Amino acid sequence: MDKIKKIGVLTSGGDCGGLNAAIRSIFFRAKTKYKIDVYGIRNGTLGLIKRPVEVEELSYKNFEGFLIKQGGTFLGTNSKGNPFKFFFKGKVVDVSNRIISAYKSLKLDGLIVIGGDGSMKIIKEIADKGKLNIVGIPKTIDNDVGITEYSIGFHTAVDAATKALDSLQATAASHGRAMILEVMGRDAGHIALNAGIAGGADVILIPELEYTINGIIKKLHKIKKNKIGHSLIIVAEATRKENGKKVVNKYNKQERLGGIGQYISKEIMKKTDIECRVTSLGHIQRGSTPVAIDRILASAFGVSAVDLIAKRKFNRLVAWQDRKVIDVPIEEGIRDYRKVSNEDTLLKTALSLGIYLGKDI
Ligand code: F6P
Repeated sequence: MDKIKKIGVLTSGGDCGGLNAAIRSIFFRAKTKYKIDVYGIRNGTLGLIKRPVEVEELSYKNFEGFLIKQGGTFLGTNSKGNPFKFFFKGKVVDVSNRIISAYKSLKLDGLIVIGGDGSMKIIKEIADKGKLNIVGIPKTIDNDVGITEYSIGFHTAVDAATKALDSLQATAASHGRAMILEVMGRDAGHIALNAGIAGGADVILIPELEYTINGIIKKLHKIKKNKIGHSLIIVAEATRKENGKKVVNKYNKQERLGGIGQYISKEIMKKTDIECRVTSLGHIQRGSTPVAIDRILASAFGVSAVDLIAKRKFNRLVAWQDRKVIDVPIEEGIRDYRKVSNEDTLLKTALSLGIYLGKDI
């Protein structure tokens, strides 16, 4: 069996807390246990598409103290530009072969991809086509990768949203207002549900559950009856309007989720004298200082990913299950999109706390 001598690492898709900790862990494990050289690829697959390739050999100097606690990814990432449909010199072209030839000319024995399900699916397809040796690490604040209980970045996003609710509570109480916090999460409501419980929200709205404006208002009136003059509402970005329509903004013909908080606010203010204000937390959820559990998860994933490569167990995705790291074939790991399920224990928790979640709950 040929010894693994040189591997690459890249971060792909939206950034999040814990990516730097994962890269650091990969480097330390590769160097100290196996004496493998590690090459950092710049800006996701873009670094392998560009010529000259944008790659640097990582050294201990890269990981001087501060990096583990820094949000984002020092390698850079890229969340647009599917290499199979790449916009290049005014045309849409397939540049997957450029990635394959870059991997080969760099003489990489393996590549660790830190990404969400979208990135993982694309890179797996390229790896199959070019016979590249890849191992995946799941990251996404949305926590929607099927196989893993937690992906890197989720807890940092929940923490940022919880801190936002803590701050909003103070000003809500001062003015006797209903504060609405809109959070990310794409089509999954995990961030809203988790942060809503942790931050003491009165109403949690997630895309998985239908609600009514009247239901929300009833809850707010109940709070008033209990002589509490303010309230907190957290809403996930993909929650639909009461009529079932998504709320999106258009930028350069591209649709982006956003604005459901404003919709909820207007509807409440139309029907009541409750004063609402809206905060859209946005990318603070991605760029915040990584919380301890994300650094720990990232470190555990990094070590396991390198071990898989060293054993030549390729095409695997590491995941967190039952208090340990496991690994599965990549296609199996990303097969299911993980939304909040009806059996999610936190739904019961939220309901038991009297939080309004929707009409059929
Ligand atoms: O998937 C991560 C995520 O942060 C989603 O929660 C959000 O909808 C989206 O990415 C935002 O993407 P962008 O950074 O392109 O605005």
